[in-house]
Amino acid sequence: MKRDYLRVFDFNKEEFLFLIKRAIELKSGKDYLKCPLIGKSIGMIFEKPSTRTRISFEVAIYQLGGHPVYLSPKDLQLSRGETIKDTAQVLSRYLNAVVIRTFSHNTIEEFAKWSDVPVINALTDLHHPCQAMADIMTILEKKGKIEGIKIAYIGDGNNVANSLIEASALAGLKINIATPHGFEPLEESVEKAKDLTEINLLNEPLEAVLDADVIYTDVWLSMGEERNAYKKEKFKNFQVNSDLIRHAKADAIVMHCLPAHRGEEITDEVLDGTQSVVLDQAENRLHTEKAILEFLLSL
Ligand code: CP
Ligand code: NVA
Repeated sequence: MKRDYLRVFDFNKEEFLFLIKRAIELKSGKDYLKCPLIGKSIGMIFEKPSTRTRISFEVAIYQLGGHPVYLSPKDLQLSRGETIKDTAQVLSRYLNAVVIRTFSHNTIEEFAKWSDVPVINALTDLHHPCQAMADIMTILEKKGKIEGIKIAYIGDGNNVANSLIEASALAGLKINIATPHGFEPLEESVEKAKDLTEINLLNEPLEAVLDADVIYTDVWLSMGEERNAYKKEKFKNFQVNSDLIRHAKADAIVMHCLPAHRGEEITDEVLDGTQSVVLDQAENRLHTEKAILEFLLSL
């Protein structure tokens, strides 16, 4: 039976933690020449721009011995009205898995429903589960543990926040989320997370960062929201800057999924500062994606 990774909660706690450990092994160079994807072709449909996700998936597939097939949406018959159902069923006859970045989460759910091969979410408006796995791996590397670690997420309750909440819940991290009123994360993710960990929804960045081990932020306007410039006004007190981070633990790390809008949600000083781990975080996308591909294609 094929499995998909559309949101973090598609894996259980044991699977999620196993994949992070496996990613750390792969990063160390273990099994570099094992090539579990030899003879396999993985489709990559990206309906939004991407630097990290697209390149890291393409390189991950190549390093595992597989063949990445980049499918520009404008070149597919989808752009001329072919249905998701027909596209998913046909691509299942050629490909061994499909990685998709799209707008509505319903689109990827519909694709996965009709696909006979695993579908991996490379970001939708609601979830960014591959990012969240790399985030928890980075925290484990930097802090040496994940149990009991406290994250403060400051900013928009968006796709990155929803997946970080689900990942924190599975991995056993505590999480404070500070958003302006009306920009809270997905209620369903929060409610399920509450059964597994301590999660606090707040409206004050300062309250959220007190005693935090990790400070995390993301853009105020996600892809597709560029016209909602009015939103920015609501976030002006939610910038991650040096005044804010000094209220967290002295050894707190600063994370951002990137790309950053420097001077908006985060200052240059903090993004480029000694507490920032954003480049290791970006690198870990490669290792976690290898672990996910290896796992889903071995089932
Ligand atoms: N963090 C992330 O997903 O980056 P890209 O949009 O560049 O893929
Ligand atoms: N929230 C951002 C994440 C980009 C990786 C977006 O959806 O544009």
